[in-house]
Amino acid sequence: MADFATLHEIVAAARGNLSDGAWDYLTGGAETETSLLRNRLGLDSIAFRPRVLNDVSTIDLSGTIAGHPTRLPVSLAPMGSLELMHPDGSMAVARAAEAFGTVSYLSSVTHPGLEAVAEGTSHPKVYQLYVRGGRDSVAEVAKMAVSAGYVAFCLTVDVALYSRRERDLIKRYVPTARRSAGEGMEYQASLDWDLVKWFKDSFDIPLQIKGVATAEDAALCVEHGVDTVYVSNHGGRQLDHGRATVDMLPEVVEAVAGKAEIVVDGGFMRGADIVKAIARGADSVAIGKVQGFGLAAAGMPGIVRVLELLEEEMRISMGLMGLTRLDRLDATFLHPAPPVREPSVLSAFPFLTLRSPEY
Ligand code: LAC
Repeated sequence: MADFATLHEIVAAARGNLSDGAWDYLTGGAETETSLLRNRLGLDSIAFRPRVLNDVSTIDLSGTIAGHPTRLPVSLAPMGSLELMHPDGSMAVARAAEAFGTVSYLSSVTHPGLEAVAEGTSHPKVYQLYVRGGRDSVAEVAKMAVSAGYVAFCLTVDVALYSRRERDLIKRYVPTARRSAGEGMEYQASLDWDLVKWFKDSFDIPLQIKGVATAEDAALCVEHGVDTVYVSNHGGRQLDHGRATVDMLPEVVEAVAGKAEIVVDGGFMRGADIVKAIARGADSVAIGKVQGFGLAAAGMPGIVRVLELLEEEMRISMGLMGLTRLDRLDATFLHPAPPVREPSVLSAFPFLTLRSPEY
């Protein structure tokens, strides 16, 4: 593997390894991509208010995700069609989380699947399901996830209808995760909170609801005993014209009031982005696109390198803000500020045209 010194180099290597179709599937969003751009705009509109002259000689970034100790408050988000980015697909992702020391999610629309990934790894993993069959099929998968040792079950609920990904549509590109999307879509559109109640009453595995975007739905999650409220706009890939997920956090954090864990995803690409989410009250951040860049760049070691670089960036941001522990990070360290450049899916990487001498 090339010795990537920066995340920029990993993004550039991923672009070089992917077809236009796979690259646009990974980096694109729905319709006008306003939600996708707002994720970056939200993050790029927050400045830091650092404190000085604190002893920061030892910085501890460890914590827990879904009750399991992790090296960083960063997990690997569920992603469909990982096999398009690297032949090892979801196995590379799970092995990277295991090697680095964090939690990974496994999507129900990626390869390899539930049992192979469980057999191949022993770290804490969350299984994420698109509910496309009836309750019997959910029950079957939930039982399989419990017996395979997954530490939580995640229901994604922002896909009542499949969005129009226009980059894919224009090119007539059909990612593997989409090929089966027709099946069960009507059932998916009919889901309501009864499913959550039934799931909590039926299975002894912590439940995560992914796709929460408001205080109202966060409060309903808490009422239904949901263990993790997963704040997400599907990386800007589902409802267009939504808000940045980092801007959803304050109202969700207030509504949850410590009664559930809070995970967020949506355009988090750099260590500083993660620090902003934790300062806004998230317990952890899940990375999607930047995980895909690591996978496409170099398979499992590429994702480990992404996590190492995020750790290094976070350590420096924290130390330069006078902070040694994540539980001391709060909104007093943040300040609104206009973004310095146009938001884009890659606005966190302004130097992609520079080339390292190594490749
Ligand atoms: C996507 C589905 C698979 O966003 O979640 O492509």
